[in-house]
Amino acid sequence: DWTMAGYRDEAIRKIREQVGDSKVICGLSGGVDSSVAAVLIHEAIGDQLTCVFVDHGLLRKGEAEQVVSMFRDHYNIPLVHADESERFLTALEGLDDPEAKRKTIGRLFIDVFQEHAKAVGGAEYLAQGTLYPDVIESVSFSGGPSVTIKSHHNVGGLPEKMGLKLVEPLRELFKDEVRQLGRELGLPESFIGRHPFPGPGLAIRCPGAVTREKLAILREADAVYIDQIRKHGLYDEIWQAFAAILPMRTVGVMGDGRTYDYALALRAVTSVDGMTADYYPFTHGFLGETATRIINEVRGVNRVFYDCTSKPPGTIELE
Ligand code: XMP
Repeated sequence: DWTMAGYRDEAIRKIREQVGDSKVICGLSGGVDSSVAAVLIHEAIGDQLTCVFVDHGLLRKGEAEQVVSMFRDHYNIPLVHADESERFLTALEGLDDPEAKRKTIGRLFIDVFQEHAKAVGGAEYLAQGTLYPDVIESVSFSGGPSVTIKSHHNVGGLPEKMGLKLVEPLRELFKDEVRQLGRELGLPESFIGRHPFPGPGLAIRCPGAVTREKLAILREADAVYIDQIRKHGLYDEIWQAFAAILPMRTVGVMGDGRTYDYALALRAVTSVDGMTADYYPFTHGFLGETATRIINEVRGVNRVFYDCTSKPPGTIELE
């Protein structure tokens, strides 16, 4: 009989067999996948593992603090908090093509991991929380022709150039199974239930060129939106919800004044595995209240749209 406890033991055995007594670094993103991978690998090889949390300047409000405190408070896993935001944001300046943005971010992640592999005294392995849908989607799409829809930073040909071998203990799992495995490993429920957050972070929620100004607005708006969803008790019904800042400004009026500010798109979808998704049918009451709160509380936004596109034909992220 197949059980998650059995899967865990088998995965631990395979990790030990694969890495022997080599050192491993694990890229932590703050998401469920990389956290589960880190805890699993830590159970397997203890302090041969070092986790590297890269702050690429594309995280959500409060996210770096949450991840660092969770790993330091709940686990005894060595964690390096690498603030690389200047480097990533500088490299992204002026780039507006989605694949160029993704590839730039992917390349920098590899550089940073290589530096840390050296810094821990020669790690031979890089661990990632790659899931089965990541593996499929970077090769083909829903059984269709073999076309790359998006370069996911955590899969693909990059590691060969990198000289680090990969450890990907979640490669056969879907999201719901990773969550089960996380429970099996004792991760807090509040963490396991978190919506997925992509490696390229807010860069792919900011279509067009990424600027610090847009990121700052987006962080605030996203926090208000998620707060609304939690207050209305909807967080756990939704696979993923986020705000995106659109590459346009529109005219509005506030008090007696004219405004010329950014427009925001709100997205929320239900899904089982991220491969297909339906947009979430919020009530008009909820949408109106949320738009009003965002425009009142976030400077720089004067218009809010709701994205009613399912996947396909849309993807979940905007880029
Ligand atoms: P899309 O936008 O392809 O997203 O419909 C499907 C799921 O994957 C997440 N996603 C990523 N996760 N690195 C990641 O770790 C990536 O490059 C990436 N791109 C998309 C997305 O948030 C959604 O849950």
